[in-house]
Amino acid sequence: MSSDSAEENRSSERLKMLSHVFAAFMGAGAIWVGYLVQPEGLPRITSLAFFLALIVITEALPIKLPRANGSVSVGFAMCYSSVLLFGPFWGGLLTALGSLRKMELTGKVPALEVAFNRAQLFLAAVSGGLVFNLLSTGALGERPYMFAVATMAGGISYFAVNVTATVLYISLKMELNPIALVASDVKWMAPSYLGLMPIAYLNVAVYHAVGEVGVIFFLLPLMVGRYAFTMYSELRDVFVSTISALAAALEARDPHTSGHAERVSHYAVAIARRMDFTDEQIELLQYVSILHDIGKIGISDQVLQKPGRFTPAEWSIMKGHSEIGANILAKIKALREGASWVLYHHERYDGMGYPEGLSCENIPLEARILAVADSFDAMVSQRPYKRALTLEQARNEIVRCSGTQFDPEVASIFLEYIEESELVHAGFLPAELDETPEERVQEGSSV
Ligand SMILES: [Fe+2]
Repeated sequence: MSSDSAEENRSSERLKMLSHVFAAFMGAGAIWVGYLVQPEGLPRITSLAFFLALIVITEALPIKLPRANGSVSVGFAMCYSSVLLFGPFWGGLLTALGSLRKMELTGKVPALEVAFNRAQLFLAAVSGGLVFNLLSTGALGERPYMFAVATMAGGISYFAVNVTATVLYISLKMELNPIALVASDVKWMAPSYLGLMPIAYLNVAVYHAVGEVGVIFFLLPLMVGRYAFTMYSELRDVFVSTISALAAALEARDPHTSGHAERVSHYAVAIARRMDFTDEQIELLQYVSILHDIGKIGISDQVLQKPGRFTPAEWSIMKGHSEIGANILAKIKALREGASWVLYHHERYDGMGYPEGLSCENIPLEARILAVADSFDAMVSQRPYKRALTLEQARNEIVRCSGTQFDPEVASIFLEYIEESELVHAGFLPAELDETPEERVQEGSSV
């Protein structure tokens, strides 16, 4: 083991230890805060049991967020309703108990992590209740506007404590950058939670006006809304798997390019992230990159699977794949914008590419990104008609072709990415490589 990796191991152990200390600290903090905020009286047991049941039911029905790793459930509205109705202590207790997951009860999650989860939820709910109590003056019926402001402020505090504690814990435990975690997941959750805060407000109003029956009636349309969102989420998954299936259909015809589409998409997304594309732009580029060579579906097996070099006539047929691919994408409404990226993914920055010989900024930026990602993967992949370049050789090739084949800015961003990422360890490169750069120079570009 090298001294570098020994040092890495030590720092990884330190972070894990810190995550345990943090979890224990949160557990102790929850007990202490619980002691401080414990009320004198006990609310009606049946009301507590009713809301506990509501939390258990709604928490058991989460909806996976389409673009993030997290999920959201109407459960938050029920937890927060109980905070508004029964105060920080009882609301916090119902939240912590009602949202216990099955895997936490069956011992599949370490005890310390279960304790952390319960503690942070209790503290989040208590913070929401305290902020609400501080701002709400009078009952809902007397000052509805102030009650609404207090509900939102308390809800934001609840969400903030919940997110901060969870992000800190996960970033320590999994060695992830907390800011990246917030950027990738939390920002997708915030609108859902903000939207559920007024639901808690209305839930409390309905409970005061009609009682438990009113809350059940109020819950029904929420469940219908959840069903509609689940359908949307599933449809979206179907769309994404259809894209992968299309790429797989192509790879089945040309098995030598196995995994190429996914890797090109991976590299294109890495470049786009470094070029500050928005999440929507990145998502579209991710799908379009997977399908960048889909036009090869329209090329005959005789040409597509030819192991040797192409004749001029075969080469001309092969070049047609970018236009065929663009026509296919133009028929898919959600991907139509990417049709021109596919059409021009073999254009060169110096105007010597195909199909139209466009140059520089006349080539769409996404097509210039695709060109670098596609060529790099072709360079480092073994094909029947060529051997793979080493990472170092491919890097030199990108430098050499920057400003001629490749957009220099995109090329330099990709080189930066190669430096910073661990491509070799991620399995994107073949292990044994024995060719000199001179042998490969003529084969730097891809089809
Ligand atoms: Fe291509």
